[in-house]
Amino acid sequence: MKNIRNFSIIAHIDHGKSTLSSRIIEFCKKLSLNSLNIKVLDSMELEKEKGITIKSRCISLNYLYNNEKYNLNLVDTPGHIDFNNELKRYLYACEGVLLIIDALKGIESQTVINYNIAYKLGLKILIVINKIDLPNINIYNLKKKIKKKFKNYNNKILKCSSKYGFGIKNIIKYIINYIPNPICKINNYLQALIIDSYFDNYLGIILIIKIFNGILYEKKNIVFLSNNFVCKIEKIGIFKPEIKYYKYLECGRIGFIIIRNKNINKINIGDTITNYPNKNNIFLKTFKKPLSQLFISIFPKNKKYNYFKESFKKLYLNDYSLTYKKEFSKIFGKGYRCGFLGILHMDIILERLYREFNIKTIITFPNINYKIYFKNGKKKILNNPNNINENEILKIKEYIVKLKIYSPIKYINSIIKLCIKNRGIQKNIIYKNNYVKIIYEIPLNEIIYNFYNNLKNITNGYGYMKYKFLKYKKSNIVKLNILLNKKKINNLSLFIHKKKIFIIGNQILDNLLKYFSKKMFNINLQISVNNKIISSKTIKSYRKNVISKCYGGDINRKNKLLKKQKRGKMKLKKYNNFKINKNIIINFLKII
Ligand code: GTP
Repeated sequence: MKNIRNFSIIAHIDHGKSTLSSRIIEFCKKLSLNSLNIKVLDSMELEKEKGITIKSRCISLNYLYNNEKYNLNLVDTPGHIDFNNELKRYLYACEGVLLIIDALKGIESQTVINYNIAYKLGLKILIVINKIDLPNINIYNLKKKIKKKFKNYNNKILKCSSKYGFGIKNIIKYIINYIPNPICKINNYLQALIIDSYFDNYLGIILIIKIFNGILYEKKNIVFLSNNFVCKIEKIGIFKPEIKYYKYLECGRIGFIIIRNKNINKINIGDTITNYPNKNNIFLKTFKKPLSQLFISIFPKNKKYNYFKESFKKLYLNDYSLTYKKEFSKIFGKGYRCGFLGILHMDIILERLYREFNIKTIITFPNINYKIYFKNGKKKILNNPNNINENEILKIKEYIVKLKIYSPIKYINSIIKLCIKNRGIQKNIIYKNNYVKIIYEIPLNEIIYNFYNNLKNITNGYGYMKYKFLKYKKSNIVKLNILLNKKKINNLSLFIHKKKIFIIGNQILDNLLKYFSKKMFNINLQISVNNKIISSKTIKSYRKNVISKCYGGDINRKNKLLKKQKRGKMKLKKYNNFKINKNIIINFLKII
């Protein structure tokens, strides 16, 4: 235990966490990684393609320092705010962090958020300036800024170039000397925290655990304290990054256990496991499940519901932030109503369903939670307008958050404009050195879609924000319906503020019309609110000249082709099984 170091690498997106992780692996394993392809930890196809880390990963490394063998457990974490929960969970398994800062971009939003998370959890922090090979950087100034921003940081600020492998040995020296070893009792009863899990087609259910006390043995029975579920450990081991099995693992280690597939419903991330029969039932300090902010309905397009259901269970095992419950649509059949932390999270889950399970999906417009008061006196918190008859609604209250924006002072006017445009009510502005903290009360539906990107644009990446739920407040929210040839398109309604119905309604119609262009019948699209049509657009049918290739004047042949075209049109007219293409949703998100 004395020689174990558990640490996470955290940073703002793209500051170089994964590249540094790979360099540390290279250094400890004496590997020579191709300098053009040096990210060994982003193993998911989607991660490589998008160039971002989505899942945290822990790698166990051995390193000889002053003739002593050290076990370094390195966790590479995602930088994007939507995956912050992924990062937080793994911090519960660590005693320290390396906070990476890009030498050129300097301190950015997630740098500060991540510093504060690690600090609050009592972890030792080591700040590392990365990308020192870049031209036009001023390390002296950046160090001054770091000291000013993180007043309670009193360790040395380290420097490196992960790309070229400079400064790595020194970082490892600091990890060993500065990050504390885990404190645990080997003779105590077993206590291990489930940090993460995933499903492997060949191996079964793999649980990533940190052992806080005692020893974990293979083939022994364990009990999950949240539901008293007992099962046998098939195998235990660690990632190096390849799998290495052990007969037992001692406390202080981060490793994995493998259990049988049939137990998939019994797993709760954040749960404590102990030996069975159990001598204790004391839960370890754990993380909370994050609240979903954005909801859509997902229906399988090309697979049977049962396959969809089983795939979801497996995906859920690897995404603790996802929520889902059964949903039924008259048109699309059985599916799930799913909750996400944000747009990127939603996008990643849809992609993973397709890539990992070959499931194509039909989805609905995203919505957030609203408090709906019905005329019959009932009230409910709901996020799915499709199941609600607007004639039964008395009033709607919307989700208001307390939003804190931090930014260099020079961007203050643009930030205020952005908040006003999004119906924010200013509560306070606090000036501190060259920075400003701006506090607003603002509806969640104004900031959940594109607000953060807009904030980053207007502050050149320096502005960052956080928010928390404040209250539900009465608001002019209405249900907007979309009609295709006078018939409501099921599952395509959304809640929206009255002020925005014309702008957004028209933009949605324009987007949908693009989707329908070149169909062979007249299309009329309308927006209705409170049973009134507020916008209407039509495109004339695209008349394909089916007889153009018909040589000569054979009237029978011509009539046959025209008849065939008519039959095709009739078929299309019955078109109410409107399938929502993901691009329509993405375009829709860009406009709100
Ligand atoms: P996320 O996981 O998505 O948050 O990104 P990350 O922080 O892991 O960053 P990543 O390692 O993917 O690096 C981002 C970009 O910076 C890549 O193009 C790297 O090649 C580049 N990069 C990383 N380290 C260095 C460095 O030391 N010098 C230079 N010049 N570029 C670097």
